[in-house]
Amino acid sequence: MKTHQFKQSLLLAALLLIGITTAYGDDDEHDSEKSSVATLNRTAASNAVYKEECGSCHIAYPPGLLPTPAWSKIMATLNSHFGDNAEVTPVKQREIMQFLQRNSKTNRHLQQPLDAKQLRITQQAAFLHHHREIPSTLSTANPAVKSFSNCAACHQQAELGSFAEREIRIPGYGRWED
Ligand code: HEC
Ligand code: HEC
Repeated sequence: MKTHQFKQSLLLAALLLIGITTAYGDDDEHDSEKSSVATLNRTAASNAVYKEECGSCHIAYPPGLLPTPAWSKIMATLNSHFGDNAEVTPVKQREIMQFLQRNSKTNRHLQQPLDAKQLRITQQAAFLHHHREIPSTLSTANPAVKSFSNCAACHQQAELGSFAEREIRIPGYGRWED
């Protein structure tokens, strides 16, 4: 085989390998997913206005867990927000929207596509993927949890925007082992 042909086959083999890794990289133990999840979660705590205005009734949800159009819809309908009024001043509204817009872009790291029409993080495939193995007795039927929207019931550091597995304690059950 001539050298340049050999180089070409090496390149082809490398490209194939990348393709295979990407296509089948959906294991629960996938490292790059873990690190990107960690990065996107830290962002939630990084904007003071977002934290103050959107972190009082529930935690300031990680922006990367919803696509930009869903955040836009939420920010445009704050006066009827899941049965509550969560209106903010126009100045804060703009700042929060800009923050969400910038950071929801990180959702390209998630391996499940995000549904632009779904305003609930807890109904997005990316969320369901991580939570599908948790039985209702520990979650929705658990009086200390009630709703998956209540992230902080299980994720001890959710307020700080951190969702690492070692920080999970399910009320009445304890640590979560895969
Ligand atoms: C006055 C209280 C209140 C404030 C302030 C508030 N929310 Fe909410 N939010 C709620 C309630 C209630 C729900 C529904 C929770 C449930 O179903 O358990 C909710 C749900 C959500 C959800 C969907 C969670 C899920 O189930 O996936 C998102 C996203 C959200 N809020 C974003 C925001 C943003 C962004 C702000 C700031 C502009 C904000 N919220 C401020 C009360 C509030
Ligand atoms: C009933 C408890 C419970 C609630 C409520 C809950 N989670 Fe989780 N979450 C878990 C468990 C358990 C896992 C680990 C699942 C696994 O990997 O087997 C997990 C995994 C995750 C992961 C992946 C972490 C990683 O490092 O892979 C993220 C991100 C996450 N949750 C975010 C959220 C958000 C955001 C909310 C609220 C909207 C939420 N969770 C509500 C129990 C919960």
